[in-house]
Amino acid sequence: MKRIAVLTSGGDAPGMNAAVRAVTRCAIDLGWEVRGVRHGFTGLIDGDLIDLDARSVAGIIHLGGTILGSARCAPFETDAGRARALAVLRERGVDALVVIGGNGSQAGSLDFSRLGLPVVGVASTIDNDLAGSDITIGVDTALNIALEAIDRIKTTASSHRRAFVIEVMGRNCGYLALVAGITGGAEVVVLPEVETTPEQVATELQAAYRRGKAHAIAVVAEGARYASDALAAFFRENRERIGFDLRTITLGHVQRGGAPTAYDRLLATRLGAGAVATLDQGCSGVLVGMRQGAVTKTPLAEVVGVRKPLDPGLLTLAKVLAL
Ligand code: F6P
Repeated sequence: MKRIAVLTSGGDAPGMNAAVRAVTRCAIDLGWEVRGVRHGFTGLIDGDLIDLDARSVAGIIHLGGTILGSARCAPFETDAGRARALAVLRERGVDALVVIGGNGSQAGSLDFSRLGLPVVGVASTIDNDLAGSDITIGVDTALNIALEAIDRIKTTASSHRRAFVIEVMGRNCGYLALVAGITGGAEVVVLPEVETTPEQVATELQAAYRRGKAHAIAVVAEGARYASDALAAFFRENRERIGFDLRTITLGHVQRGGAPTAYDRLLATRLGAGAVATLDQGCSGVLVGMRQGAVTKTPLAEVVGVRKPLDPGLLTLAKVLAL
């Protein structure tokens, strides 16, 4: 191995920069050269590569976003796009590629490794929906941002005896909503994995008031069948019968911004270093993730397109602790 390239792809996640830094410095430590690809797979197709040395990745470990830029790249999904990207890497003498990203990005990694290029994925998405890693880069920061919002809403909700819905990201995965709900002390969580009707949400929130609570908070995953808009409409239409208003807050991209937590910086550093070690061992076509506290490798073919189930123990806790 003489030269590797690294890119960040898909939705950015706090901690991506720490991963880029670890990949770069660990590779340099082995005597390799490093190229950074700008704007994900788009930059690969456009030949937008920059040299990275130890100083280029200085002062970035505490920054959210990604210094390389990211993109969701439709052309890479075509044979022509992938062939062009591969040609760029060959022209630039790149021996292997590290892809820091989530589900869609690792599907790209798998396609690419099937074309014969050594590729290693690094598990990075705030959604925590990647099979092959118990936790992914950015989840902890996104959860802490959601929690800060829930804590703030809770005080004003209690002062006014108001009900709130707080919608969090997660695409089709309810992990962020479930854990934010448990750790934020929500009365009900609404997830894509467990169908919950607006009527059930209303019943749970009414029951919370009857149990003497001053606030009634639902944390809702954006991918749930009935997310914040549907719940707000239902409460408006049934205001008289339900007996109280429902206000909604959508956290959206706020969860993807800001400085990564210590946990995310360390996770990203360990996974970035793990990706370089993996290539050094002559292994590729795998996702580097974290399982049971250890850095692990899982074949990309066992990760891509696999739905990661929620922990049933957490689902039970969410119900019990809302009492
Ligand atoms: O995958 C990360 C994520 O933030 C999801 O939670 C969300 O559904 C999606 O990306 C939003 O994508 P975009 O930033 O392209 O609007």
